[in-house]
Amino acid sequence: MKHFISVNDADVEGLIQSALTYKSHPLKDNHLGTGKRIGLLFLNPSMRTRLSTQVAASNLGMESIVFNVGQEGWALEFEDHVIMNGTTVEHVKDAAPVLGQYFDIIGLRTFPSLQNKEKDYSDAYIQAFVRYCGKPVVSLESATLHPLQSLTDLMTVKETFAEKRKPKIVLTWAPHVKALPQCVANSFAQWINAWGEADFVITHPAGYELDPSFTNGGTILTSQEQALKEADFVYVKNWSSYTDYGNVSGDDASWMLTNKKMAATNNAKVMHCLPVRRNVELSDEILDGVNSLVTKQAGNRVWAAQAVLSEILKPM
Ligand code: CP
Repeated sequence: MKHFISVNDADVEGLIQSALTYKSHPLKDNHLGTGKRIGLLFLNPSMRTRLSTQVAASNLGMESIVFNVGQEGWALEFEDHVIMNGTTVEHVKDAAPVLGQYFDIIGLRTFPSLQNKEKDYSDAYIQAFVRYCGKPVVSLESATLHPLQSLTDLMTVKETFAEKRKPKIVLTWAPHVKALPQCVANSFAQWINAWGEADFVITHPAGYELDPSFTNGGTILTSQEQALKEADFVYVKNWSSYTDYGNVSGDDASWMLTNKKMAATNNAKVMHCLPVRRNVELSDEILDGVNSLVTKQAGNRVWAAQAVLSEILKPM
């Protein structure tokens, strides 16, 4: 594996199996990364992605260094041919090749502006690092996708569902107090569709349709009640509008999942990538209930990251 930016870089089933193996045997490859170093660059905040990737690197015998670019570094410029007389101090063309000399692998987290759809969906920040740093790049969440989260999510489904049939997995939109990116939902849809091992349904209020290039293959319903019927897993996530880009249309509090709504499911497990706003996106009764997978899911971030890093390290 050269880079890890989307499902197109991945052998989905192979990575799921590798992540499950690392969960059982965390230190089985603890010399694979000896003498290697990963730089984890954050233009935006993180808890799980940052720490789970550091733990994964440590389990592989690899050094990790975190750089909070957004808070501690020079403000980076990503536009080509711009006259840099504004707030940005250093061009990515100059910074990325320097970072490529310090590190063997570079991880990058960026968020979208939610102002300019075309620019956000070009994933220009990640692509600039791929172009200029000269080393493998791992997405720690980009403007459009969150592949480490999606691999974790599929691993969590796989280890939880023991029946010999495809699970019904419902991705449901949830309310939120602010406009959030579409990347977790895009990525989840992209990975589930590529995996092909689930009956996949997406439900959201009208106006929250996702980019069809990620959702094609799933059933899309605007009735949450209908979507939840016989679900084995319910993945809860808010996202802002893709069509009316970055906007939210007001009060949709009725979309918050409750135990009453869950009665229509097949005793479904509930997933969320975290962080979650309690009693806005998801109710206490669901998060604290026996069917919540959110803590297990977040714990699995280590094994997903370890599976990805090991695939990049093997040919080095
Ligand atoms: N789910 C997730 O990416 O969490 P963090 O933002 O804390 O990394």
